[in-house]
Amino acid sequence: MVEPFARLLDVLRDDLDLTGTKEGCGGGECGACTVLLDGESVNSCLVLALEVMGKSVVTVEGLSNHLELDRLQQAFIDEGAIQCGFCTPGMLLSAKALLARQKAPTVQEIRDGLSGNLCRCTGYERIVVAVSKACAKDN
Ligand code: FES
Ligand code: FES
Repeated sequence: MVEPFARLLDVLRDDLDLTGTKEGCGGGECGACTVLLDGESVNSCLVLALEVMGKSVVTVEGLSNHLELDRLQQAFIDEGAIQCGFCTPGMLLSAKALLARQKAPTVQEIRDGLSGNLCRCTGYERIVVAVSKACAKDN
């Protein structure tokens, strides 16, 4: 039973134990809570759980096929694009949505596509390189 004003973020983390989705600001500013909703990246702290009825929700737990990592996950590891890891699930899902829209984004397009996701550790450079490498693998 979902409370009428329950946030998608809370239902994912507290009810479904999908704790890969993180809460940073809780106000739509940091992107740590990013998930895919029908393929589009959204801040799950700003979405009511009831709003997603009948829609597809993908969290970081759903990115790999459980046999191998998604190419973005592997690229983040290979390129050392993770430090504390708090921003990583949201970064991965924003990057996933970007690559679904654009097969070969430029560096600027990657930066723009990830502009809603804050990272306090990496300086972004390795994250951008990782997303570029993931595109290259696919092309
Ligand atoms: S926790 Fe949702 S945008 Fe920061
Ligand atoms: S790796 Fe720490 S916030 Fe991005």
